[in-house]
Amino acid sequence: MITLHRLTKIFPGGVHALDDITLTIADGEFFALLGPSGCGKTTLLRTVAGLETPTRGRVHINDTDVTALPPGRRDVAMVFQDYAIFPHMDVAANIAYPLRIKKVPRARRAAKAADVAARLSLTDLLHRRPAELSGGQQQRVALARAIACHPAAFLFDEPLSNLDARLRLEARTFLKRLQRELAVTTVFVTHDQAEALALADRIAVMSTGRMIQIGTPADIFHRPATTFVASFIGSTPMNLLPARLTATALHVAGATLPLPPPSGGRTPLTPDDHLTYGVRPEYLDLTTTHRPDAFPGAVSVLENLGTHTLVTLETPATLETPATLIQAVVPEGAEPALGTPAWAVPRRALLYRDHTLHTAIG
Ligand SMILES: Nc1ncnc2c1ncn2[C@@H]1O[C@H](COP(=O)(O)OP(=O)(O)OP(=O)(O)O)[C@@H](O)[C@H]1O
Ligand SMILES: [Mg+2]
Repeated sequence: MITLHRLTKIFPGGVHALDDITLTIADGEFFALLGPSGCGKTTLLRTVAGLETPTRGRVHINDTDVTALPPGRRDVAMVFQDYAIFPHMDVAANIAYPLRIKKVPRARRAAKAADVAARLSLTDLLHRRPAELSGGQQQRVALARAIACHPAAFLFDEPLSNLDARLRLEARTFLKRLQRELAVTTVFVTHDQAEALALADRIAVMSTGRMIQIGTPADIFHRPATTFVASFIGSTPMNLLPARLTATALHVAGATLPLPPPSGGRTPLTPDDHLTYGVRPEYLDLTTTHRPDAFPGAVSVLENLGTHTLVTLETPATLETPATLIQAVVPEGAEPALGTPAWAVPRRALLYRDHTLHTAIG
């Protein structure tokens, strides 16, 4: 278990890299930290590892207050963004290094290193030095070194960023299986939303040193708390469209939609509210016949996604709204022809007031 209490890090020069973060990561949990470049992910990990001293706040690992402990006494294994491995040792020695520190007998060390290396497709490289490895290979060595021992926590900072698409997918599945097997509390930093969704039990979405939303992958995907989270999650970004409420309807990009259902507990919407209508491209159906409750547009781009096609519609400008682009994902073969008119019908959507989630529709 890792507990952060009111953790704040202000770097000399005044950057608030972490801003009053309170968070508990459960025993054995796979926790992903997701956010854009510079939001504080590495700083958070380094503070847990003991490589940064917090300006304020405390860090507990398994009920021990480690805030003042040096990194070596925190029993965590960290894989850095720049995967620092020892240049003077070969791959086998690098992987076995933490076991050597723990005084594990030589034969057991070698066997363990060989086993982990095999699982990360490193067997043929065991006797090479880091300088003779590609970036992706070095990264896998760093990962293997971290998982060769059984620490209280794994701290992974973008450990798969240098792997090609196939290896990355393989390493991802391997990591998830391994983490289940060992049940070691894991904090995994990534700016790849698909990786976070695939791996994590819970995800925290960060922006400028703060946690914007913490939840399960399903929570974060289906009910992003703010338009920032909404725009960050999903393999094709969510359509976020300005919306206007009247007494009888919701007007969005040329479509007249039914009034949203009342949202329990929240103050009712009014025509003066600043509203954003969010709909994922996967939740839009396309039709070539006119419907008033659909977004009208002309097909302006078609992108092949393999089994699906990403269709970009350009909605016409009206007196009220400028022309906008709306994207829909449809099964291959179901896309209308380039340049033709089409209507996008929403199946499920989210309504945001002042960029904060108000109602889920559908
Ligand atoms: N040693 C430092 N001194 C001053 N500012 C720093 C230092 N390290 C990081 N920062 C700043 O703190 C903020 C958070 O940096 P951090 O490295 O934690 O971001 P990140 O989320 O890991 O980004 P990335 O995805 O690019 O790795 C940034 O604004 C960064 O410029
Ligand atoms: Mg970083």
